[in-house]
Amino acid sequence: MSVFYRAVICTLCPCRCANRKEYQPVETFFFISPRYTEHVFASLPQMERGVAKILGGDPKGNNFLYTNGKSVIIRNIDNPAIADIYTEHPHQVTVAKYCPSGFYIASGDISGKIRIWDTTQKEHLLKYEYQPFGGKIKDIAWTEDSKRVAVVGEGREKFGAVFLWDSGSSVGEIVGHSKIINTVDIKQTRPYRLVTGGDDSSCAFFEGPPFKFKFTMSDHSRFVNCVRFSPDGTRIVSAGADGLIYIYDGKTGEKIGTLGGEKAHDGGIYAVSWSPDSSKLISASGDKTVKLWDVGSGTAVTTFNMGADVLDQQLGCLWQKDHLLSVSLSGYINYLDKNNPDRPLRIVKGHSKSVQSLTVHKSDGRNYIYSGSHDGHINILSSPSSCLVITLNPIRAHYWDAETGENDEFLGKGHSNSVVKMAVNDSNQLVTCAMDDTVRYVDVTKKEYSASDLLKMDVQPKCVSVSSGGLALAVCIGQVVLMKDKRKVFTLDNLGYEPEAGALHPGGGTAAVGGADGKVRLYSIQGNTLKDDEKILEAKGPVTDMAYSNDGAFLAVSDEKKVVTVFTVADGYAVKNDFYGHHAKVMCLAWSPDNEHFASGGMDMMVYVWTVSDADKRIKIPDSHRLHHVSGLAWLDEHTLVTTSHDASVKQWTLKI
Ligand SMILES: *[C@@H]1O[C@H](CO)[C@@H](O)[C@H](O)[C@H]1NC(C)=O
Repeated sequence: MSVFYRAVICTLCPCRCANRKEYQPVETFFFISPRYTEHVFASLPQMERGVAKILGGDPKGNNFLYTNGKSVIIRNIDNPAIADIYTEHPHQVTVAKYCPSGFYIASGDISGKIRIWDTTQKEHLLKYEYQPFGGKIKDIAWTEDSKRVAVVGEGREKFGAVFLWDSGSSVGEIVGHSKIINTVDIKQTRPYRLVTGGDDSSCAFFEGPPFKFKFTMSDHSRFVNCVRFSPDGTRIVSAGADGLIYIYDGKTGEKIGTLGGEKAHDGGIYAVSWSPDSSKLISASGDKTVKLWDVGSGTAVTTFNMGADVLDQQLGCLWQKDHLLSVSLSGYINYLDKNNPDRPLRIVKGHSKSVQSLTVHKSDGRNYIYSGSHDGHINILSSPSSCLVITLNPIRAHYWDAETGENDEFLGKGHSNSVVKMAVNDSNQLVTCAMDDTVRYVDVTKKEYSASDLLKMDVQPKCVSVSSGGLALAVCIGQVVLMKDKRKVFTLDNLGYEPEAGALHPGGGTAAVGGADGKVRLYSIQGNTLKDDEKILEAKGPVTDMAYSNDGAFLAVSDEKKVVTVFTVADGYAVKNDFYGHHAKVMCLAWSPDNEHFASGGMDMMVYVWTVSDADKRIKIPDSHRLHHVSGLAWLDEHTLVTTSHDASVKQWTLKI
């Protein structure tokens, strides 16, 4: 497999810092023989209560699209474990749509920028960038020949524009609204028609090109969230916050009727999507249902009940080939089953917010990746094809097996705030610490959080480490806490330094604690106490993370001064090697099962895989996560590393060591 890397040449600053120009026409490509391949566990859509989420469909019917933070996520619809992430927007991306030819995607962000980029190559070359107005882009539509693009949103004086894709020249005027325009669509057959809907409760109808405003349709009594032409162009549907769906003639804009009479849904409607044959459509609503309509008769054929929780509100939908997709406020992507409307065929889960910690564990011959996120979720992915996904969160928890279709609900409540760090011991206990000031234990084979397996800390924990004999060590603000068999047995405070990270020797005899003063103190574990060994190791700067190799032979310590120092335990903790390479603070460390290699992740978004005995033998993964620093690392086996980041994605790297 070959990989091309793209370099943006910038005279001000070579890195991806704020000095970098947002659009650099000078781009070069260079080829390197990669020493790794990549697999992405993509993030879910980023959701906001009461705000529609647009799922874009691929005209060939293979992929679907959505946005999270500064990323556009492209997922295979048959196998959503296959994903690609586009990360070139400097601001939060709000919507992305394929052009009808399928060769390009137009994506828009909160600053009003539209980027049109290639879909055929992994590098996603930028074709054009425009800024039709200065405010959030809310929807994008293409003409059927892929030559014109309409965009609408929250401009200051202007709420929409329509232009030629390759020059940006205007091909009409989007007027007729007094407030934000939420939605736009263009008839995919000639003669062209364009329709918009907005916060002024009205829709506007245009003929063209060049597109000219014809009239306003003022049937809705509240915001219009979605307007869509049927694929054959004969109908327009508009859906609003008033729970109503109106049908109009596609060519004349004349009103034909409603779906469901007086009311289509008991809550606001956020999205509609037509069947490929234009006879049916689905609608997604805040009433926690999706409805499938027969448009000819105006009646609901099927109602999909998506749950009773607020997070089950439905904010987006997509009908693509035989797939009926909806997206819940939780970010979960539901594959609806017409034959069983209360139980989706598949629910794609994952993280929608930044992921802070990661660990792996093997059980029943299967590798599991545990990743904890900012929203308190813990996800369990199975490698390499994402067969099993388990999500734990304060409100509800599930596990899901894509192979067997098994989908069950966890019992018990998880953390209520960011999971900072986690570790699994040799008897399947996952120990997690979080900003809710607790350390929790979960038996990963039972997949259940129990209220009694919770230790309240005096202060916020920063780090947790486990070893044999039921021992665990939590490093908290100003405190180090030794735990045994789910109980706190010893607390060290008045330390005289600020502890930042800790590691228990696998043999259970020693605890190493790294400080903000750049020193590592060793404590011996005697019974249920920690005794200061009066032995101090020097890191090159404030300690950020530390880890013992699995065989206990080495201790690796990373620091803010971009260095990892490895000490040999049997040699009285003599320095074995220093590892230089990172351009910024090193954030996390993990040892390979071979005890000969370890990986480090940095603030510079780089991952290095190092060889203990030779600091020059290394594999560098630049831009491992392009938008945010690497926040967690773990090894599945000697050749497979997983990494995570605040971009809410988890990546798996197959290394050629
Ligand atoms: C793992 O942790 C649990 C809970 O503290 C403990 O009962 C068990 O003995 C530990 N296993 C090992 C191998 O230390």
